[in-house]
Amino acid sequence: MKKFPYTPLQIAIHIYAWSALILLIFDAVSGNLSANPIQDLEQRTGRHAITLLVLSLLCTPLNTLFKWSEPLKRRRALGLYAFMYATIHVVIFADLDYGLAWSRLIQEVIQKPRLVVGFIAFTLLIPLAITSFDIWKKRLGKNWKRLHQISYLIAPLVVLHYLWSKKGDVLSLQGEVVKPLIYGLIIAIFLIIRIPPIRKALVSFSTRMLALLPGKSTA
Ligand code: HEM
Repeated sequence: MKKFPYTPLQIAIHIYAWSALILLIFDAVSGNLSANPIQDLEQRTGRHAITLLVLSLLCTPLNTLFKWSEPLKRRRALGLYAFMYATIHVVIFADLDYGLAWSRLIQEVIQKPRLVVGFIAFTLLIPLAITSFDIWKKRLGKNWKRLHQISYLIAPLVVLHYLWSKKGDVLSLQGEVVKPLIYGLIIAIFLIIRIPPIRKALVSFSTRMLALLPGKSTA
């Protein structure tokens, strides 16, 4: 019998990405959005974009810590879906919010540092999305990995953009800052794990732990 070509992880990723978009369109068409529908759409697409971006960054630690290699094969899909939502987010801002009035739009972005940060993050995402395909991986060789490490810069920029668009106080954790701070904490952990001595210690710890699992012991 022919093997089913998709893994549960692959199915889960595609279901999440497309169902969120379908729900968004359904809510928009059926008038099921908040009192400020454009803001609602901006916020929801922005949150899906950052979530998918963080999930794409989770793939390497999952492989490093648990020797689970499948997520490495799913990084591209997660990254491209993050880019898809970021693009929809920016299109909603430019079209629905500003009616493609470019000079007004550019003025607005320049005047608001949080939008400048979002713009930088989006601009940096473009080359990553374009070069995410195998042909570019081959063409760029070692530089491909270097280029794609920009995602570790993009993620904190997006957290800053998120945090900045929320009212509240970071130090007293008042207002709506908790969610963006959680994303920030997760990204900080990913970055810390990449520091070579910490990574080495974690790999040796996880290797010892995995060896204790039933069926893995060589004793
Ligand atoms: C040109 C680039 C961008 C522009 C002009 C832009 C615009 C905006 C605006 C206007 C808001 C505030 C919505 C509101 O609460 O009133 C916002 C929030 C947000 N944006 Fe962006 N954005 C950009 C890039 C990005 C990128 C690249 C990402 C993620 C990959 C992103 C993720 C978010 C998130 C997570 C929020 C907060 C959502 C929430 O309040 O729950 N943005 N953006």
